Amino acid sequence: MIMLTRSPGDLQVDLVPEIERLKREMNAIILAHYYQIDEIQDVADFIGDSLDLSRKAADNDADIIVFCGVHFMAETAKVLSPHKTVLLPDLAAGCSLAESAPPGEFKAFIDAHPDHLVVNYVNTSAAVKALTDYCVTSSNAVHVINSLPKDRKIIFGPDKYLGDWVRRETGRDLLLWEGSCEVHEIFSEQAIAEMKQEWPGAKVLVHPECPRAVRDLGDVIGSTKRLLEAVANGPPHATYIVVTEPGIIHKMREAAPHATFLMAPANAVGGKEGSCTSCNTCPHMKRNTLEKLYLCMKNRSPEIQLPDDIIQKAKIPIERMIAIG
Ligand code: 13P
Ligand code: SF4
Repeated sequence: MIMLTRSPGDLQVDLVPEIERLKREMNAIILAHYYQIDEIQDVADFIGDSLDLSRKAADNDADIIVFCGVHFMAETAKVLSPHKTVLLPDLAAGCSLAESAPPGEFKAFIDAHPDHLVVNYVNTSAAVKALTDYCVTSSNAVHVINSLPKDRKIIFGPDKYLGDWVRRETGRDLLLWEGSCEVHEIFSEQAIAEMKQEWPGAKVLVHPECPRAVRDLGDVIGSTKRLLEAVANGPPHATYIVVTEPGIIHKMREAAPHATFLMAPANAVGGKEGSCTSCNTCPHMKRNTLEKLYLCMKNRSPEIQLPDDIIQKAKIPIERMIAIG
């Protein structure tokens, strides 16, 4: 039982049954990313990576989408289901990648390269998506780039590391924006190399938002869903070194209860190489709590609002991505 206790005099609320009751009453669906805290994953109707969450946001029977993820993800849900109410438990749940591409600066970059197609990772604001030809996620970026005409020049934003990975996988000469994910960027190459020595049979699972030197140590490189599938399809007693946000381990443990999961450490910001075991937790994803989830459903706020013209323009690259697969 997880109770909400705001102050000693307050009525106590048993959060999980109350969230379930509100869900039925509001005809709401709770969508959660794999990086959400375990308790939110357990109460969610659907858990996915960025691509599957976009698909589910576009195709469900609920009146209200409660999005347990970060702001750009909830915006994507609003763009795809503009007539639905989209709630985000904490409106301040941002993303360093999305913030690394301010719309004005990104537009100037596009304007300086008018002969380029514009491909952006979904980790962008709706305003930047409105300037984009095709969206991608880490699940389908290689596939989408391979589907574009070979004679077209391409801008790829905002993640320079994902862009570098896609460039190597496709052989295409992408013009990269200089953004990065503050979580995946700081995994320690040295600490992972040492862990490989200590656990010689361990498989290294790496998200492509990591820098090349870290990716080069990986046995499997892919989106959160791809890494989860590798565990689900792997030997039951395998050992894994996980090089992405630790929230994913909740579902990995369910998929392979007898496997061993070792979280790769990160470099402390301004500190020692490989010395930080908590720096790889996304502070934005972790802003959402069970209490905030309950309160946002009860108050039907905070709600995602977007101007109509942004919705119309941002929808085009997202729908193209979903259509490509
Ligand atoms: P995926 O869910 O597409 O793997 O993305 C990971 C991520 O960092 C989301 O913010
Ligand atoms: Fe953004 Fe990185 Fe957090 Fe994902 S893990 S939401 S890319 S800061």
